[in-house]
Amino acid sequence: KFSFLIQTRNLALKRFPNYSILTDKDYRKNRCLDDVNSLDSYNEDWLKSCKGNSKLVLLPKTTLELSEILKYCYAKNLAICPQGGNTGLVGGSVPVFDEIIISTRLMNQIIKLDEESSILSCQSGCILQNLDDYVSQRSLIMPLDLGAKGSCHIGGNVSTNAGGLRLLRYGSLKGNVLGLEVVLSNGEILNSMNVPLRKDNTGFDTKQIFIGSEGQLGFISGVSILCPPRPRAANLILVACNGKSFQNVIQIFKTAKLELNEILSAFEFMDRESMRAVKENSNLENPFSIEVSEKCDFYCLVETHSSDEESALRKIENFYSKLSEKDLGLDCIVAENKTQFSYIWSLRERIAESLTKDGHNYKYDISLPLNKMYDLVIDIRKRFSENDAKNYFRRCIGYGHLGDSNLHLNVTSEKYDEKIFKLLEPFLYEWTMKNNGSISAEHGLGLKKKNYIYYSKTKENVEYMRKLKKLFDPKLLLNPYKTLPDF
Ligand code: FAD
Ligand code: MLT
Ligand code: ZN
Repeated sequence: KFSFLIQTRNLALKRFPNYSILTDKDYRKNRCLDDVNSLDSYNEDWLKSCKGNSKLVLLPKTTLELSEILKYCYAKNLAICPQGGNTGLVGGSVPVFDEIIISTRLMNQIIKLDEESSILSCQSGCILQNLDDYVSQRSLIMPLDLGAKGSCHIGGNVSTNAGGLRLLRYGSLKGNVLGLEVVLSNGEILNSMNVPLRKDNTGFDTKQIFIGSEGQLGFISGVSILCPPRPRAANLILVACNGKSFQNVIQIFKTAKLELNEILSAFEFMDRESMRAVKENSNLENPFSIEVSEKCDFYCLVETHSSDEESALRKIENFYSKLSEKDLGLDCIVAENKTQFSYIWSLRERIAESLTKDGHNYKYDISLPLNKMYDLVIDIRKRFSENDAKNYFRRCIGYGHLGDSNLHLNVTSEKYDEKIFKLLEPFLYEWTMKNNGSISAEHGLGLKKKNYIYYSKTKENVEYMRKLKKLFDPKLLLNPYKTLPDF
């Protein structure tokens, strides 16, 4: 009766029999979607690799409405799947079977922007881009930025502890979120948003447990977040790196840290194949000359945020001279206007979208020590060629947040292919563990990666995760089948 589709693997999942089955009596037709056509986009993830079979999407507007819904589900044993912008990349945001989807789409009100403290308080369904536009009117900036900013919700960002493009400069959400309002599975409201403060050491900081908890422990309904001053001057440099070795890319990063120092706001890298993907699939031309691009294996995107354009340009000049002195760059482009600025960013930000156009995307998000970071891509390519997989896959590429030691390794093929999948997993997780990395740097575990948790966490840590889950969600109704590994 309940079908679910996970094109990427054959997880032997069974619907938990203790969950009730939804009936018409369970809801009034008020702010909900229950016709098959409008449910489709809520049931399927952004990568189109996981599809659930929910029969109902609820769209509360207020915390009290959300609390009433959760109380009801708790009493009736109905499982739920919290959903924000549905841009998650690990299959966590869509139901597996018939869980009721509760979307934050209508919880999109800004509550307050405190001018003295620069703390923004809002409902969890606010779209990240809208928040950034809003705070920019008060010369502030959101402390996080990601390619999905036009659709992801701040509640989804907090639930995944999203990293993104500015973490290097402004730090993680674990530091920037100063208060949360969370509705627990029984409908109880846990509020730390009432007095958001920079400093508060009154016992345990309970909100931290919800940041990155992927909808397992509670439903985030409100967020208070610290917004830094918006930089008066933002500059962007695209470097075509010299040489075939990734060690040169690391040297460029080290030079950027020294020369750009406190104004460095992002350091991203992409390899030759990534640049080719955005050209072939999204029609974004490589801005360097053919002579440079033919020789270039890696590109670095370096952004600065500062209060003073003149001194920023002086620092960039010094950075450039050091690259030439050390022979690290083939060429550099400094964005001269807004159009060039956003064009250069789009080369990096649109890689994810470009890859989906190849067909199937095997997506990995790995933390590794810097000097090992690209070896994984090299070893996977080697593994493919040793196993005659050349004709099966389309691309094997590496890009990511080099400034945070976070590699995005992606493989694509026309359709999902078991042979490719088996060459990738568990090999690359074993490789990551051996090299002291983490199997999920920023995307989380969701449905796809939950069973690999032991490559990065000890048995004891996972046991305490289970105990916390039971404490906050004793009936296991919140986002079931995900994040925690199967027994
Ligand atoms: P969803 O996808 O809807 O949900 C994600 C998870 O959070 C699910 O488990 C869901 O159940 C849970 N959840 C959602 N809302 C709530 C809530 N209010 N309360 C409790 N649980 C909730 N991620 C990065 O970290 N860095 C990046 O640079 C980055 N770039 C991306 C670029 C693109 C083009 C895309 C498509 C994705 C990218 N992502 C990135 C992944 C994704 O955008 C982030 O994980 C984002 O934070 C998810 O937000 P969302 O609102 O879409 O959440
Ligand atoms: C990114 O940094 O572009 C995102 O995390 C998405 C991806 O991994 O492709
Ligand atoms: Zn990323």
